[in-house]
Amino acid sequence: MDSKELGLVIPQQLLGLQDLHYGFWDEGRKPEIADFVNAQKRYSEFIIASIRDSVDNTSAKILDVGCGTGAMISELIKLGYQVDGVIPSAFFKEKIEQRLRDIDSTNKSIIYNCMFEDFPESERRNQYDLIFFSESFQYISMIKGFPVLQSLLKEKGKILICDFFKTVHHGDGGPGDKSMGGGHRLNEFYDMIKGSYKILKDEDITGNVSPNLELMNDILMNRISPTIKYVDLFLVKRYRIIYTFLKFCFRKRIKKLDYKYFSGYRSKETFERYKTYHLIILENQK
Ligand SMILES: C[S@@+](CC[C@H](N)C(=O)[O-])C[C@H]1O[C@@H](n2cnc3c(N)ncnc32)[C@H](O)[C@@H]1O
Repeated sequence: MDSKELGLVIPQQLLGLQDLHYGFWDEGRKPEIADFVNAQKRYSEFIIASIRDSVDNTSAKILDVGCGTGAMISELIKLGYQVDGVIPSAFFKEKIEQRLRDIDSTNKSIIYNCMFEDFPESERRNQYDLIFFSESFQYISMIKGFPVLQSLLKEKGKILICDFFKTVHHGDGGPGDKSMGGGHRLNEFYDMIKGSYKILKDEDITGNVSPNLELMNDILMNRISPTIKYVDLFLVKRYRIIYTFLKFCFRKRIKKLDYKYFSGYRSKETFERYKTYHLIILENQK
């Protein structure tokens, strides 16, 4: 299990989350932790509604790339779609398969345990009516991923992406620049699809996602940071020599983590400047 996977497994297990995305919030309303699960549900419903609008035929074949806990696959199967998934994590693959068996023991979905870039294309060439990425597109190499998409999609097949991208401000050195990783550059994405895909929809939903950052920043700055400071004081007193030595050895790493999580830059404002969150639907033109 790598550190990225661990970063998904820990919150999912601790909080029992059904979804691994940011959620969909009302723009301009103060986000509350108690509404987090509902916000995640609203986001899933938003994607499922967009899928239903894109593929009206309920026997359509769909692929969920980076399918997390399998929550969306379950919902789509209940609606009658045939859905496969891709997940690099063996831990989640097992959980998803169990979840799908619980819904229907005769279910034929295949959960591919690999990175999308390594998908066994020959098994599913020209088979999918729609391939979607719910907050997972940012993890896929576009150079390696687009040829795979091209090979798996049917003629006029659709791609749905709901994820954040880097804005033109990325790398400008302003406050909070690069404090939050992830996302392809939006202009590079548009260049990549030119000539091969028609844009059917491109909706900027940054304002519905960024409240999540406000909530997370509040938790980091006002709950986790003070706790870490107390633990730090305790360790300095208890194990002064070894603890100071370890802190010195890992000082660069600590500084980086401090900037990323405890500088206050993991905020709604920073997110809105450096990231832009879109729902994009493309149609295959080849
Ligand atoms: C933020 S989670 C989103 C999970 C789920 N789609 C959702 O909306 O709840 C990102 C997902 O992408 C998956 N992922 C990361 N890199 C990937 C890759 N190269 N190929 C396929 N999936 C990947 C992770 O395992 C994880 O399930």
